[in-house]
Amino acid sequence: MHHANLGTLLRTCDAVGACLAVPPWRWVDEALARGNTLRRPSCVHRVGDPLRWLAAERAGGARVLGVELTDEAVRLADLPMARRRTVVVLGHEATGIPAEALDNLDAAVEIPMIGTGLSLNVAVAGSLVLYKLAGLS
Ligand SMILES: C[S@@+](CC[C@H](N)C(=O)[O-])C[C@H]1O[C@@H](n2cnc3c(N)ncnc32)[C@H](O)[C@@H]1O
Repeated sequence: MHHANLGTLLRTCDAVGACLAVPPWRWVDEALARGNTLRRPSCVHRVGDPLRWLAAERAGGARVLGVELTDEAVRLADLPMARRRTVVVLGHEATGIPAEALDNLDAAVEIPMIGTGLSLNVAVAGSLVLYKLAGLS
């Protein structure tokens, strides 16, 4: 929803050695072109059908981890470093991760909050989880 988030996430992905998977929509490419302040090419996968791609990643052995406040979610502090290929799913700023994608998760991770807001900005939430998975924080 807020295009600047894609550029922020792209920089985090680059910092931790991850790739960013995005749907092949024109506004996504425009947002990435505007938000990419890195000086060298970064790793971006254009994913045709995100749900089908998630299912294929799972079938291929990747762990699919949702970043979302859910009842069964693991707390960020208890999330171990990723030891195998891991796909991190982030939600829409207004509506979160859609139900069809939640069905395709192996697990969910939540970032506990004690403030008055109901959720974090998606790029902040994604960056915190990526750093934990990378073992850099
Ligand atoms: C602004 S939040 C979405 C809030 C939305 N109203 C909802 O119903 O889910 C955007 C995304 O950031 C991530 N996120 C934000 N805060 C989070 C938290 N405390 N723990 C885990 N994920 C969070 C999730 O991926 C969420 O779908």
